[in-house]
Amino acid sequence: MSSSPQPTTPEGPTGAEFRRGPFRVGERVQLTDERGRMNTITLAEGGAFHTHKGFLNHSEIIGKPDGSVVTNTAGHQYQTLRPLLADFVLSMPRGAAVVYPKDAGQIITMADIFPGARVVEAGVGSGALSISLLRAVGDGGYLHSFERRQEFADIAQGNVETIFGGPHPAWHISIGDFQDEVLKAEEPGSVDRVVLDMLAPWECLDAVATVLAPGGVWINYVATATQLSRTAEAIRADGRFTEPDAWESMVRGWHLEGLAVRPEHRMVGHTGFLLVARRLAEGVEPLVRKKRNKAEFSEEDLNAWTPESVGERTVSDRRLRRVARDARAGIGEA
Ligand SMILES: C[S@@+](CC[C@H](N)C(=O)[O-])C[C@H]1O[C@@H](n2cnc3c(N)ncnc32)[C@H](O)[C@@H]1O
Repeated sequence: MSSSPQPTTPEGPTGAEFRRGPFRVGERVQLTDERGRMNTITLAEGGAFHTHKGFLNHSEIIGKPDGSVVTNTAGHQYQTLRPLLADFVLSMPRGAAVVYPKDAGQIITMADIFPGARVVEAGVGSGALSISLLRAVGDGGYLHSFERRQEFADIAQGNVETIFGGPHPAWHISIGDFQDEVLKAEEPGSVDRVVLDMLAPWECLDAVATVLAPGGVWINYVATATQLSRTAEAIRADGRFTEPDAWESMVRGWHLEGLAVRPEHRMVGHTGFLLVARRLAEGVEPLVRKKRNKAEFSEEDLNAWTPESVGERTVSDRRLRRVARDARAGIGEA
């Protein structure tokens, strides 16, 4: 891409040369001011970052090492850092919801995406997950991404080329429905991992079972419990996969200031659920998971189940009558 910076050392894995060294023209830089406010700029010859409190010439940053602190024309300081993958994904142009970095990390590890792996993925959306998958498979791997909408594929391509500084040698993208296109493109049993982030993964079941190698991993990212349940039941009923496992992850940041060390008040409460199953060898019957008998409770156990034993505070009848009276009279607690 024309706006990409010139690499200093062209050797090494694709994109690595754009992640290190002094700042160069064409690179994105994250500025943090003295109040912690962040802005991302793209360095240009003769460029400037204007605020109502002076401006910062890009020439103050170009050639400096990553992590420098620079000063604008009004004496205000900025910390400069090259954005990390997580920063890039959350600020890059997007047409569809992206897979958040916390989930991308889980997908890479729990689906065992390894260097050199043959992976197929759909849909591509804005390409956030494609970037993580490409990093994990590396230049010697193979990622074939399927997207039904050309506009999304274009956005994803732009984002992938921005972060890698050009096309990635392991990446192939095809337009169309995954369940149709993957069967034309991939040999049966030739794919190590399938990663789906789409509305209806259950529609792809047959295609996934066809292209996935024995023992291969199929991971799904879905936004709702109803999609999760439908996909899990379809996998279970199909018989060519292991019993599916599902989970979600929640990440809660912490506020760290002197003695005020506590969880942040706000967090990303929900992104999506992950559901994983593995392809069984051709022709084998899946193990039917034996269910343990439901726990039975004796009369003695049931009698032991009192508010006190489970730590509930008991409230006297007298107090309850008073609270009810107050409630009827509209009197709140003092
Ligand atoms: C939520 S977005 C994917 C986001 C992407 N994983 C990311 O991290 O940026 C879902 C995408 O799936 C595409 N899609 C839905 N069903 C599809 C199918 N059967 N085959 C190919 N693409 C599909 C949609 O067009 C949409 O772009």
